[in-house]
Order: sequence, then C-alpha cells, then structure tokens
Amino acid sequence: MKPEADRVDPVALLKGLVSLRRLTGLYPAGHPTIEQKLTELDDAVQRHIRGTAALRLDVIHGSALLDGIPFRQDSETQAQILRELTDLGIDSIHIAAGVTRHELLAMSEFLWQLKEAPIGEPIDVQLAARQIRHITLGRLVPLDTRWKVVQWPDSPTGALDPSYELSLALTERTFDDVMSGKGINLATIRDIVHLLIQKVAASNAALGQILAVKLYENLTYCHSVNVATLSLLIGRQIGLDPASTAAVAEAALLHDIGKTRIPLEILKKPSALDKRERKMMEAHTTYGAEILVEVEGLRPLTPTVALEHHRGIDGGGYPDLGPAAVPHFMSQLVAVADIYEAMTGARSYQDPAMPEQACLVLARLAGTKLNTALVKAFVNAISFFPLGSVVRTDRDEIGVVVRTNAAEPLHPVIALMGANRERLPGEIDTSRRLLSGEYERHVIETLRPQEGLDLNRFLAAS
Ligand SMILES: [Fe+2]
Repeated sequence: MKPEADRVDPVALLKGLVSLRRLTGLYPAGHPTIEQKLTELDDAVQRHIRGTAALRLDVIHGSALLDGIPFRQDSETQAQILRELTDLGIDSIHIAAGVTRHELLAMSEFLWQLKEAPIGEPIDVQLAARQIRHITLGRLVPLDTRWKVVQWPDSPTGALDPSYELSLALTERTFDDVMSGKGINLATIRDIVHLLIQKVAASNAALGQILAVKLYENLTYCHSVNVATLSLLIGRQIGLDPASTAAVAEAALLHDIGKTRIPLEILKKPSALDKRERKMMEAHTTYGAEILVEVEGLRPLTPTVALEHHRGIDGGGYPDLGPAAVPHFMSQLVAVADIYEAMTGARSYQDPAMPEQACLVLARLAGTKLNTALVKAFVNAISFFPLGSVVRTDRDEIGVVVRTNAAEPLHPVIALMGANRERLPGEIDTSRRLLSGEYERHVIETLRPQEGLDLNRFLAAS
C-alpha cells in the first residue's frame, strides 16, 4: 500500500496531462505557463511512479482506469477530458520509471500535433524520433478485444433465395478484386445489376431476407447488394424508367467501394469510432469516387453517388463540398436505402433496429438530411411491417409477413409459425374485418427473428 501522501488523484493527473497538451499548442516553447504546468505534472507522475514503478492510464469503453483500477468520473468536465484524448485516437498512456521532464513535455507536444496530422508513421516510431523512451501511447482498440462483445456472422446464414445468394457471391468477388488491386470487371457489374433488377428485387423471398431485421454484421459487399435492392424498391415506387433503374442499381451497388481502402480494424471496430477513425472512415466517399472515375464504361453517375451518399440535402454531411452543393437526386435516393440497411443490420456494440424503428429514424431525418418524398416512397414501398418480418398479433399468434398491402400498411398478410419455426398451412389476411367493421386482428409488434428461421419456406411459397 502506498503512503497516503504519495497517492495521486487520477482526475488531477488526467487534467494535468490534457492542459499541458493545450498549453504547448498555445504558447511558445519555454513559456513560464508551460514550465509551471510541466513541473506540477512531473511532480505528480514521479510521486506515483516511486511506489509502483509505472503509471498506466487506460480508457476502455469510455471509462478511465489508473493502473487497471477504474476511477470515479461523474462530471461533464471529466468526460470532456477523456473525450479529448480518445478523439485523438489515444486509449492508453503508459509511463515507466525513469521518465524525464523532457519526455513529458515532448509527449504533450506530440499529442498536440496529432490533432493537425492524425495519420502518419506508427506512434512508437514517432515517439522514438522525439527521444521519448519511457512513455508508450496506445491507439485503436485492437481486434482481439472483440471477445467482450457479441459476435455476429459477417453475412446472412442459412438458406437464401438463389438469385440473392448468387448476387452476393459475385459482389464479394468484385470487392475482393478491388481490394487486391485487380480493378473492376465491367461485365460482372452488368451481370449483377441485371440479376438484381430481374430476379432479386422481384423475389419475395429475397426481399424478405433483405428487409427483415438482420442477425448479422454485414461486410461491405453484402451491405452493397442490400442497398442496391432497396434502392430498386424506391425506384419502382417512384416510377423510374428502365435506364435510370439500371443507373441507380449500378451506383448503389458500388456506393461504398471506397471502403476497400479502409483498414478492417476500423470497419469492424467493436465500439463507436473516435474522431480520428471517423475521419479515416469518412474518406471512403472520396476514395470510392477516385476508384470509380478510373473505370471506363461505368455510368457517370456512379462515382457521383459514391462521393455524395453521406451528404444531406441541407448541405451537411461529408465530404464537405460546401453548403450550396445539393447532392444529385440519385445520391439522395441511395442515402435513404443506405441508412435503413445500416440500421436494421447488427453491429457488435449495437443490436439491429426493428424496421418500424428504422422508418421512424428516416422520418426524423426527412427534410434536413434526407429527401422527404423519397423517404415517403421508401416507407410506402416496404410498409410498416415489411416482408419477412416476424410479428405478433393481438391474438398472440406469431407469424411471418408474406405479403404487404399498400392500402393497409399496418395490416399485412401473414403465415403462422409453428413451435419448430415451421410454416403452418394457410395465410391470414390481417386486413380482414368483422361485420361490425372492426379488424379481426391487429399486428401489434415486430419480434426479433429466431436464429435458424428459414424465410425461404415462408416466402418462396407465397
Ligand atoms: Fe457509405
């Protein structure tokens, strides 16, 4: 046990670190204010190390630990201090015995400069170049911390609609090719687009598999097939002509191709991204446009959608193209499908949202980020309880939505599910009314689909 006088207040230590960092950005080297703060910090660090030989400050999932022990943090100021570090991509600061005043100052200067030049050589190389030998800085939660979180499969499991399965396989190959520098095969893109328009978007089974809550954390190729299919549903709803339909399918299929240049540990990071990682992730839009503009034979709209699909109709979003640059209509369309698809998919740190929750979020974004008419078209196309949803009625029946009815968005046709998740014979039209004019039954909620539910058996038959 350390003597009372040597105990260091972890919050004061953290504050000292962060304010020294700010001061080095504000004042010239050697300024008395910096010197004073440095003396205080050096004092506290040396006092702590005297008893333990090292000082380890870690931030894990937003809480701070000193030498592995979490410490109390209940004020907004403390939370802000932690964010200031994690926004730089720094999750841990380890200081070993022997650390000098010079090293503490050099680390603060390094942390300040990290803000301006977030990406560069590995941190340990940069620290060594500054003669910092007793301090290590950690950034990016490594992949092996995933043991803490739910493991979702990377793509849909179980039996899939055959045309959907084929388009997934072809798209996976296309994305792998781009990742390994082989370029895009135009003929394959044409095949996938054809398949999506003619088969996938016309198959109830495929649509059910795409619209229902997804119990998998889908990789980019899978997200892309889903977004392209959902974009086709919107296109059908607003009556796009065949040429525009093919254009939107191609653009939606390739909208996230820039993610092939983003490190996997960021794409699959098991927690929310910090500021630096977010910046890297946001670059997938410009990378995508760069990749696509080089491919001869693609429609001119395709790189545009890749560039603009995270931009809002209000001029917000990224990349920053100025408030006056309103995204192309097709970019606005793909944005609606993209947000729904992402929300109804699982993330290691987040359960998938139910379709009706996702539709409510779309409605909230309508008018600012999203085009209101396109949100309405999408919600009308999929209805409140989309194909493939597992629902419960007010008679406590559990079934799968096998058909939707545009005039009765809250009353789909369902097929009941037996105890072994099998389809029971017959169908129930929940829009049927009693003689009194009342509905026979109401669908009251969407349930999370059971593992191993074979939607093909419900939807291929309908
Ligand atoms: Fe994207």
